Amino acid sequence: MANIYGVIGDPIAHSLSPLMHTDAFRSLNLDHCYFPFHVTSNHLEEAVKGMKVLGIAGFNVTIPHKTNIIPLLDQIDPLAKAIGAVNTVVRENDSFVGYNSDGLGFIRSLKEEWKRELEKEKVLIIGAGGAAKAIFYSLVHDGVQAIDICNRTTERAKQLVESCPYPSETNILTMDEAEKTLDSYSLIVQTTSIGMSPNMNETPLSIHNILPNTHVVDIIYNPFETALLKAAKEKGASTSNGLGMFIYQGAIAFEKWTGNVPDVRRMKQIVINQLG
Ligand code: ATR
Repeated sequence: MANIYGVIGDPIAHSLSPLMHTDAFRSLNLDHCYFPFHVTSNHLEEAVKGMKVLGIAGFNVTIPHKTNIIPLLDQIDPLAKAIGAVNTVVRENDSFVGYNSDGLGFIRSLKEEWKRELEKEKVLIIGAGGAAKAIFYSLVHDGVQAIDICNRTTERAKQLVESCPYPSETNILTMDEAEKTLDSYSLIVQTTSIGMSPNMNETPLSIHNILPNTHVVDIIYNPFETALLKAAKEKGASTSNGLGMFIYQGAIAFEKWTGNVPDVRRMKQIVINQLG
């Protein structure tokens, strides 16, 4: 049966998800469709009800609805509930069930694309916003415990860690403290908006102190390589941008919806071509 899927958000016109999922359906000969739906916050409740009665089989949720959608769904997966954000909704026995595949997508990208053994890493997360929370909670949920967090506002990082229901051995650092101890981490994850347009030359902290065998991830993918990643590369570190996390969060949603495993390399190439 042909199903209808989509993504809701505001704005939504520039979402790369329709292109990525539509191509994945085609390449597996699945007769499904995926559309961008522009839903403003004041219409979120009506939109979810509408999708329910129209038989939409599943959808992604993006800014600004990832948190506000939670009370509008029938069930929430425990990890998504802990994170307090849903990016994937699956129709299961006529119920809408909310999941969060952002942090899991991040993990799978590092495991599959970079062959990283995360349980052996010493991780530093830079930032304490929504993206940092999804990544941190998913990592500790997965059993990775050696994770420190630094943030401009340390109180926010403290709240993020204290509200996490899974155990960790996390230290909260100021940016200055993190800068001085960067050489003690094997994996550094940048989750703030610093490095995006119009602040493309900025980095959240100076990276002069990293070791060459460190892997640095910046979850930004536009620009493709942030100033932080350029600096890390110059120090001999391996680097990856946020494209892997984006592709794999989509692949996890795709698997939940269709039961099929999409070709992630093809998905990535489609998105790279579009980004130019
Ligand atoms: P997202 O959901 O995309 O993670 P967010 O919740 O707004 O976005 O979080 C943004 C993150 O970027 C936070 O860690 C924020 O630091 P604060 O908690 O101190 O606000 C960080 N951030 C944004 N602009 C920053 C800046 N100019 N300098 C340092 N950190 C910044």
